[in-house]
Amino acid sequence: MKVLVTGGAGFIGANFVHLTLRTRPDATVTVVDALTYAGNTESLPTDERVTLVKGDIADRELVDDLVGDADLVVHFAAESHNDNSLHDPWPFVQTNVLGTYALLEACRRHGTRLHHISTDEVYGDLELDDPAKFTPETPYNPSSPYSSTKASSDLLVRAWVRSFGLEATISNCSNNYGPFQHVEKFIPRQITNIIDGERPKLYGAGLNVRDWIHVDDHNAAVWAIVDRGRMGETYLIGADGELDNKTVIETILTEMGQDADAYDHVSDRPGHDLRYAIDATRTREELGWEPAYTDFASGLRATIAWYRDNEPWWRARKHETELKYQRIGR
Ligand code: NAD
Ligand code: TYD
Repeated sequence: MKVLVTGGAGFIGANFVHLTLRTRPDATVTVVDALTYAGNTESLPTDERVTLVKGDIADRELVDDLVGDADLVVHFAAESHNDNSLHDPWPFVQTNVLGTYALLEACRRHGTRLHHISTDEVYGDLELDDPAKFTPETPYNPSSPYSSTKASSDLLVRAWVRSFGLEATISNCSNNYGPFQHVEKFIPRQITNIIDGERPKLYGAGLNVRDWIHVDDHNAAVWAIVDRGRMGETYLIGADGELDNKTVIETILTEMGQDADAYDHVSDRPGHDLRYAIDATRTREELGWEPAYTDFASGLRATIAWYRDNEPWWRARKHETELKYQRIGR
């Protein structure tokens, strides 16, 4: 099976390539990645079954060629960081909307199966005491340029399924953690701050809740959807990992041998979503998928160890990332 992975030099895509090599002896992988600030070729395994093509998914000719040669497309490529989207939304529209459009048209022309990776953030946010969680029936209500461009891309996929009979599935996953995540994101930023002798940075009061899932559990669910999902369906992926940001920072500090209160409060993110929570019942019951990492503290411990052991992977990006945060006061 020839798998085209868009955004495979990013966090989740690279972990997907590693998982695919480990579990799919029949698969070869072509990664197409623009290698933006978020892409890193060092995240990819060196293996004769993996080919990297540097290119933009909005480049229709390139995408048409690559899709024409694939049996399956798994679409991770995106601009993915909310804070960046608040300061410069254009790359989000370009990649998340126009890039997905180019891919859909190529899949339509070649009759190629597509799995589209999306986020729970398309549903907006929940109150802290709301007993409800997001389900595939929750109305879309995105808050930021990031989540609204991801929502747009999901709607394009749904329309291509309905109007053109495209063979596609969609998944909306909660917040991922694990190896190879860029140091701009919450958990790696705090781990690498502590390694550098800097204090973790908590936005606002830190009461915002995220529903954490290990990246390998997300990617295992993606393969379950590719193998057994129903065409045109949306599957929600989450592992019942709701925690507020303050608790996560305190846990990281404790796991790294520091006082639990040795962090700074910084200014809050404008429009900051309060809570995300996924009800993954359909994915579990229909596909028989279950997360393997059910204990956040032990998954976090392994992730902390990975960042300690792989400093050369993140070191080059740390300084510029913190400069970017300094400029926006966070
Ligand atoms: P990431 O920012 O780490 O990686 C994105 C990758 O896409 C990078 O390698 C980048 O170079 C590449 N890219 C960006 N623009 C491109 C373009 N125009 N053409 C080709 N490649 C391009 O992101 P991630 O955290 O790995 O997220 C991957 C996908 O998963 C995204 O679609 C995101 O919306 C979704 N998602 C992420 C999370 C999370 O917690 N990180 C949760 C749910 C869903
Ligand atoms: P992030 O990793 O940016 O993911 P998302 O915005 O997609 O949920 O942030 C996760 C949460 O952590 C979010 O509520 C914002 C918060 N946060 C901090 O408190 N401090 C930080 O330094 C960062 C980067 C995020």
